[in-house]
Amino acid sequence: MIKQLLALLMLAASLGQGGVHTLVDQTNLGGTLYLVNRTYQLTQDYRPDDLVMPNVKRTSSEVLLRPEAASALESLFNAAKVEGHTLVAISGFRSYQTQRAIYQRKVSATGSKQRAQLLVAPAGTSEHQLGLAIDIGRKASTNLNASFGRSPEGQWVAANAHEFGFIVRYKAEWTEITGYADEPWHLRFVGVDHARAIVNRNEPLETYIQSLANPLLQEVLARANN
Ligand code: DAL
Ligand code: ZN
Repeated sequence: MIKQLLALLMLAASLGQGGVHTLVDQTNLGGTLYLVNRTYQLTQDYRPDDLVMPNVKRTSSEVLLRPEAASALESLFNAAKVEGHTLVAISGFRSYQTQRAIYQRKVSATGSKQRAQLLVAPAGTSEHQLGLAIDIGRKASTNLNASFGRSPEGQWVAANAHEFGFIVRYKAEWTEITGYADEPWHLRFVGVDHARAIVNRNEPLETYIQSLANPLLQEVLARANN
């Protein structure tokens, strides 16, 4: 706990100060609460050693996640199914090299780094490399676009994902903070305690982590880390 508090204080102090931090331990506040973005990056060789394949409907032969996120995804998909919504897993863990290829394709397709960066993270800055992010679609459409957010499946996910430990990480109104456009299909696993708190506060992970330095939220941090 002391180690995580120190990491939190260092992280909170350095947020918004510029510079790039690449030690994954510095971005971990305990459990699955990592902050990875353009400031807090992962090294080229970072790859979790406990990736597993969740037992869910998927579009490719391999969709990998860290175990806690994988089992939470199974629960999320099963609960959705009970309510009549069939969800599909599209992309989970992505290595640094895979992310680099996806990013380069997007730069070519959009014709500019600036446009590409609004949609795809440059290598080393994607939460997919953590094995804690998952892109999902629905049975009728596995395209990653805004229509997922408007669909009954997407709306169900937005209303319920936090009860399974996931947050919708990138919302249109947070673009200035996160750097990304609306991505209703991109879920990030942070665990139920943090996910509930983030949804209650309706804020992006970046500012939530800053707020954790506030004593009022220390209780959530302690509970989530036990
Ligand atoms: N599309 C998200 C931001 C990623 O590439 O990680
Ligand atoms: Zn994603």
